[in-house]
Amino acid sequence: MNNKFSISNFNLLFKNDNLNVLKELEKTHQNAIKCIYIDPPYNTGFDREHYRDTLSRNDWKQMMQERLLLMRPLLTEDGSIWISIDDSEIHNLKIVLEKVFGKENYLATVTWQHKINWKNYTGKFHLDHTYIVSFQKSNKFKFLNDKKPKTVWLEGEVGNQAEAIQESIQIFGHDNVFCTPKPERLIKTIVELTTNPGDIVLDCFAGSGTTGAVAQKLQRRWILIEMGEQCETHVLKRIKQISSQSDPTNIIHNADNSFYYFHNLKDYNSFTQHAFL
Ligand SMILES: C[S@@+](CC[C@H](N)C(=O)[O-])C[C@H]1O[C@@H](n2cnc3c(N)ncnc32)[C@H](O)[C@@H]1O
Repeated sequence: MNNKFSISNFNLLFKNDNLNVLKELEKTHQNAIKCIYIDPPYNTGFDREHYRDTLSRNDWKQMMQERLLLMRPLLTEDGSIWISIDDSEIHNLKIVLEKVFGKENYLATVTWQHKINWKNYTGKFHLDHTYIVSFQKSNKFKFLNDKKPKTVWLEGEVGNQAEAIQESIQIFGHDNVFCTPKPERLIKTIVELTTNPGDIVLDCFAGSGTTGAVAQKLQRRWILIEMGEQCETHVLKRIKQISSQSDPTNIIHNADNSFYYFHNLKDYNSFTQHAFL
């Protein structure tokens, strides 16, 4: 049996720095992943309840470049990558993405209307949008069902920040709400545009596990990586909740929810070496 092919059949959750895990996935998941969605710390200069967000510009750029270089080979030739970001680093992100994926593979920068209750922005504007930057691995990429998405995604169509917080309260309770979740409808839009049931979706900045939950409900396979305690307090809990059929959100999901959880990469190594003997 071919190990590379077989390991792709499993949903995987890792608690670790994604740099270490991506190096492992390079051995097991080359050309295997159809869609990467990530929502990294935006480098806003303010630490969050669940993660740090205060790197220097250069450190942030280097952190992203190192990881994006490892992500690209994991994509199938018809795969794509989608990255949530705001004004703080979008300029640096695009420079790094062009370097790693090539200018010719740029798809679009989607503007997402993430808020209707605006907050002050540089003191002179109200802020009501952030971005999702997308690149294809090669020109073999196609949107599914010949869909041609627009570059502006309105909150009525894909959800907003308030909806995401509401979902997080429903799933984790008021006392354990995740600080910066994304709405499931936003991730659903990306997953349905870019993957078929059975395809693998990777999110290596998993946060509270929105991407895994949506992928699971849409019968996609998933790989999630999160280094913070929220890997257990949020991601693990959320995924288990789906399997126990007590998920309070309303995307229809399938019941087959087996997954492997690794908080030690040595365990993943022995799993890949021995699982198929
Ligand atoms: C903005 S949050 C993601 C939120 C997520 N989209 C959701 O809906 O819940 C970013 C996450 O990336 C994680 N993170 C940051 N650097 C990481 C790294 N090097 N390896 C793994 N996870 C990392 C943080 O701990 C944080 O939970």
